[in-house]
Amino acid sequence: MNRLEELRRRNEAAERGGGPERQARQNKEGKLSARERIELLLDDDSFDELDKLVTHRCRDFGMNDQVIPGDGFITGYGRVDGRLVYIFAQDFTVFGGSLSESNAQKICKIMDLAMKTGAPVIGLNDSGGARIQEGVLSLAGYADIFLRNTLASGVIPQISAIMGPCAGGAVYSPAITDFIFMVDQTSYMFVTGPDVIKTVTHEDVTKEKLGGSMTHNSTSGVGHFIAADDAECLRMIRALLSYLPQNNREDPPRHPTTDPSDRMDPTLDTLVPAESNLPYDMKDVIRRVVDDGDFFEVHEHFAKNLVVGFARMDGRSVGIVANQPAFLAGCLDINSSDKGARFVRFCDAFNIPLVTFEDVPGFLPGTDQEFGGIIRHGAKLLYAFAEATVPKVTIITRKAYGGAYCVMGSKHIRTDINLAWPSAEIAVMGAEGAVNILYRDLSAGERPGKVAEFNERFANPFIAAEHGFVDDVIEPHETRPRVIRALRMLETKVDTMPRKKHGNIPL
Ligand code: HXC
Repeated sequence: MNRLEELRRRNEAAERGGGPERQARQNKEGKLSARERIELLLDDDSFDELDKLVTHRCRDFGMNDQVIPGDGFITGYGRVDGRLVYIFAQDFTVFGGSLSESNAQKICKIMDLAMKTGAPVIGLNDSGGARIQEGVLSLAGYADIFLRNTLASGVIPQISAIMGPCAGGAVYSPAITDFIFMVDQTSYMFVTGPDVIKTVTHEDVTKEKLGGSMTHNSTSGVGHFIAADDAECLRMIRALLSYLPQNNREDPPRHPTTDPSDRMDPTLDTLVPAESNLPYDMKDVIRRVVDDGDFFEVHEHFAKNLVVGFARMDGRSVGIVANQPAFLAGCLDINSSDKGARFVRFCDAFNIPLVTFEDVPGFLPGTDQEFGGIIRHGAKLLYAFAEATVPKVTIITRKAYGGAYCVMGSKHIRTDINLAWPSAEIAVMGAEGAVNILYRDLSAGERPGKVAEFNERFANPFIAAEHGFVDDVIEPHETRPRVIRALRMLETKVDTMPRKKHGNIPL
């Protein structure tokens, strides 16, 4: 056989993967092949594959008769909207997409290139985990990847899509990356599966309930996005990348918009109900302020009392953090603190300005919260906001009470521009609670008067404005132009942290 034929034979074998039968099974489950996934994710004809001819080196358990070029991982680089990305996709048809020593090296190779060239890494996971036949060599491969995930964190964006199984220690590579997408019904993640759980704790649980997409998107918070199918998942990854810079030395890309920067929105003037305990949807506020009403929400189903996500203002990416009065009255709790802290730190690492919409009655009371460590978790959000040196703008739409006032991007923790709507209430606590503590012996007849007096005195933005803790009280309809002008002013902002190896965020 001449060399050219040999090359073609090897390439074809790599492209065949585990063969048509296994591929048919994959399709029957509603999953695309690893190569189809790459094709959908990347710009047309932009993929350059690396290590297509790499093989495993295992000789045990009859493995020397089963050698498939590429070894079940497809790795390389390509473009999304013309911008460089590195990618790996696990091919479940080859030994269940399991990780061998060889394909761990393939992943490490593209990660090293990504670090040198400053471009995101996207992992499409669909794997039975460590290749059982390779024992510790496979474990070593995982650990090599975990190290690189850690070193790359905060340097280049890392995105994981779970498009099939992801179990055992294998979950920890996606867990270290910045965002996890899961495909509904076909993906699952767990450290120990249903069988082990049954043996150890005698609990009966299905794979879907234990580690399916909704479990991780709504209950555990491990997943950030849920997609209906593979194609939607890949489209969502492209959309996410459009908000992100290539690396931590770049600013996020600008997208031209026809939405005028001076657009006023009179609807905002009546959006907050006159009754201060009535809910409204903070996402309405967000959509009315950002470019073209486009809000790319992160963690949509998890800790809904805090809303986080990406948008653009004046064409420039911003990270939005917002209390949601329509859920748990917008209180901060354990999960929302974790969610917010992680998002704020991502934005800060990648030069994405933070815009905070605040309507928070305080931290959620209860033994569950205290026993669960709300002190430790709430401190993460505080720490993350305080540590962030990107441009920070906060708009108080209504409540800003107690410790939560300090946490949610207050002036005191280095927020650059703090604005308040006239409906803002900024105080240590609500009037009812304050009167209960200060005037315990008040008769029922005297209470309403004291509550009203308290409200009149404190539940407004003016005392904070008198002290310069809010920079201005603005009419709601002018929010968009005011925030955009603030962000333009802050474009050249430089702020730093004291010299240190790293801080000790309360984990
Ligand atoms: C080698 C594997 C494999 C593995 C699956 N296969 N997992 N080969 N190593 N880890 C092979 C199967 O032998 C089979 O080969 C093919 O992939 C498809 O597997 P099926 O079992 O037929 O598929 P399915 O019924 O869909 O079940 C998928 C699965 C199951 C749930 C993932 O295969 C499974 O439980 N695999 C083992 C999972 C596991 O325990 N991995 C180790 C986790 S610990 P044929 O030739 O029949 O097609 C781990 C540690 C990481 O990963 C450490 C990090 C520190």
